[in-house]
Amino acid sequence: MTPQQKKIRKMLEEKQGILLVHYYARPEIQEIADVLGDSLVLARAAADSDAKVIVFAGVHFMAQSAAILSPEKTILLPRLDAGCPLADAATAESVRQMREKHPDALFVTYINSSAEVKAISDVCCTSSNAEQIVGNEPAGRKIVMLPDGNLARHISSVSQREIIAWEGCCPVHQALTPQEVAARKREHPGAPFAAHPECHPDVLALADFVGSTSAILKFARESKAKSIIIGTEAGIMARLKKESPEKTFILASDVLLCADMKKITLDDIEKSLTTMQPVVTVPQNISRAAKKALDKMLSLS
Ligand code: 13P
Ligand code: SF4
Repeated sequence: MTPQQKKIRKMLEEKQGILLVHYYARPEIQEIADVLGDSLVLARAAADSDAKVIVFAGVHFMAQSAAILSPEKTILLPRLDAGCPLADAATAESVRQMREKHPDALFVTYINSSAEVKAISDVCCTSSNAEQIVGNEPAGRKIVMLPDGNLARHISSVSQREIIAWEGCCPVHQALTPQEVAARKREHPGAPFAAHPECHPDVLALADFVGSTSAILKFARESKAKSIIIGTEAGIMARLKKESPEKTFILASDVLLCADMKKITLDDIEKSLTTMQPVVTVPQNISRAAKKALDKMLSLS
C-alpha cells in the first residue's frame, strides 16, 4: 500500500466508514476497497452495512442508490460530476408519459437511472439479476424495460418474452463495433469473447458469453481458455488479471473507457474524507418510493 492508500484506510477506520468500489474504478482505488463489486453487490453492501459513512468510488446513480437504501448513513461521492449518460437517457417526465401509454405494464428499471425515475418504477434490476426479475413475472405480463434498450433486447431474447424496450444506451458499450470484435477474434483464434449486455445486439451476436461484470469475472475464472476477449469497460482488466493471472485478457477495443468512472482519484477520496463532502442525499418523498423498487429487486435476487 502507498502512504496515501494507508492514510485513506486510516481515515475510513476513524470515521467508521467503508469504501465501496465498482470494477470500472481506477485500479489504485480498487486495491483499497472494503467491497469491490458490480452494481448489485454494491447496492446490497450499502443496504446491509452498519458503517456510519459510505464512500462511493463509482458514479452518481450508485451513490444515490446507497443513499436511498441507507438514509441514516452519510454517503460521500468524492466527485459529484461522476455521472452516467445512460441514467440520463430517461427523465421522470418521459417515463410518466410512457406509463400513460402502457398503464397495465410492469416498469422494470435498470439501476443505472435517477432516483426520480426509480420512484415511479415497479421494480429495479441490474445486469446480474434482470433475467431473474423478468422471469418472476407470469407469462403474458406486459413489461417495459428502461433505460437501456440493448439490455432489454438481450433479456427479451434469453427469456423468450416480449419486452417493450426504452431506447437509451451506454455510449461506452454502444461504441464497440462487431468489426472490432471480429478483428480481435481473427488476431486471437479460439479465444472466447465475453461481453456486457449493454453492448449492441450485433456485438452480442458474436459473444460466447454475455453477463454483468461479476458474471464476466466468474466466466474468466472458470474458463479453460488461455486467452479471453473482453467486451466491457477497461477498468475490469485489473481485476481479471488479479483473479486469473495465468490467463491473457484482450480488451475488444480502446473505446471501452468510461470517463465518468475514472473521475474519482485517491486525492478526491482523501479530500472527501477530510471535508466530509460532497454528500449525496435524496428528498424523502422520492427516496421512499424509489426504495420500494430497489427493495423489491433485492428481495427477488
Ligand atoms: P454491472 O452491474 O455489470 O457492474 O454494470 C454497471 C455498469 O455501469 C455497466 O456499464
Ligand atoms: Fe454509465 Fe456506461 Fe459508464 Fe456504466 S460504463 S457508468 S452505463 S456510461
